[in-house]
Amino acid sequence: MKLHYLSLFLLVIILELSTNVYGFSSQLVTKKTLKPLLLPPPEAFLSIGHYHATCPNAEGIISQKVAAWIKKDPTLAPSIIRLHFHDCAIRGCDASILLNHKGSERTAFESKTLRGFQLIDEIKFELEKTCPRTVSCADILTAAARDATIFAGGPFWEVPFGRKDGKISLSKEAKLVPQGHENITGLLNFFEERGLDMLDLVTLSGSHTIGRTTCYSVMNRIYNFNNTGKPDPSLNIYYLKLLKKRCKRDFDMVHLDVITPRTFDTTYYTNLVRKVGLLSTDQLLFSDERTTPFVEAFATQPFVFTSQFAVSMVKLGNVQVLTRPNQGEIRVNCNYVNVV
Ligand code: HEM
Ligand SMILES: *[C@@H]1O[C@H](CO)[C@@H](O)[C@H](O)[C@H]1NC(C)=O
Ligand SMILES: *[C@@H]1O[C@H](CO)[C@@H](O)[C@H](O)[C@H]1NC(C)=O
Repeated sequence: MKLHYLSLFLLVIILELSTNVYGFSSQLVTKKTLKPLLLPPPEAFLSIGHYHATCPNAEGIISQKVAAWIKKDPTLAPSIIRLHFHDCAIRGCDASILLNHKGSERTAFESKTLRGFQLIDEIKFELEKTCPRTVSCADILTAAARDATIFAGGPFWEVPFGRKDGKISLSKEAKLVPQGHENITGLLNFFEERGLDMLDLVTLSGSHTIGRTTCYSVMNRIYNFNNTGKPDPSLNIYYLKLLKKRCKRDFDMVHLDVITPRTFDTTYYTNLVRKVGLLSTDQLLFSDERTTPFVEAFATQPFVFTSQFAVSMVKLGNVQVLTRPNQGEIRVNCNYVNVV
């Protein structure tokens, strides 16, 4: 007992000393060396109320437009979510994917199947009438992806606003976005470089519970895996039969979730457990032992998935955002950098 008190006493002394040392030394450190430590990360300047004073109806306008377009064409919901991912994946969420000039990301081969640009343009047009030069294209795309999730049956989350639009977009950088033939280590590295972790990878891949892929992305799994001239042995044989029927040409399209292709649910994960994941990167999430437990958890606990999806989407929307006064701009037209 005595020893116990003694050690507690010593601990207090040590703590006392260390705070003193800190207090003393921080006075010695010059402002210059302290500054980088105190500078908050760029996403700290985003806020839910960012447009409350300057464009109170921004979110209302965005959600009305998204609703109207998805009602006419439900396949737009997944396309908008994917567009947001491709934006954030390259140079952060800065609307670089929307720039439509020669040699921009959008013009790259890897961006060929991206859709939803016209919807974003119409929202921007509407917002420029209501609150000119106020709402960034990056913020519009982020909110539209949230709304598209809701209209597909997914969860709601609050979107923090205040991203600015970038001025640089390079076609060659579009290759960096995962294409579906990577291994899990490659995907984890890609996510980590953007501040996203393993849980975010498994969670955000759950977006593939809706939407489609061109057969181009899965042709080698069906017909020529690893240049063996045979299909990927990890494909369920009945599913393989179906895919052979649906995928004759590169530009044919197949649902990413074969069971409930239009519903935002956890069938994507139960599919992986049954070996009917479509992209090899999807199926690997179940076979790689690092990610298996997450897939199993989501497959059996839908609420855990939807609540984590909301959390991970906020993280995705915060990737490398431009929020400092000297960074980026509020584009007038999402397709072009402003002319000065
Ligand atoms: C983890 C790595 C990922 C890979 C390898 C991947 C790969 C792909 C591929 C190959 C397609 C089909 C493209 C085509 O038409 O050929 C696709 C579609 C899609 N991806 Fe991903 N993706 C990944 C992550 C994500 C993330 C993080 C999101 C969203 C947060 C996302 C959302 C979507 C959606 C919604 C579609 C369907 C698009 C549509 O129907 O128009 N993906 N993805
Ligand atoms: C995984 O992909 C990376 C490239 O992203 C490559 O360097 C590595 O060799 C691959 N690992 C395996 C086990 O195939
Ligand atoms: C496919 O190729 C990779 C390396 O290129 C190898 O590690 C893997 O075992 C092969 N898979 C099959 C099923 O042949």
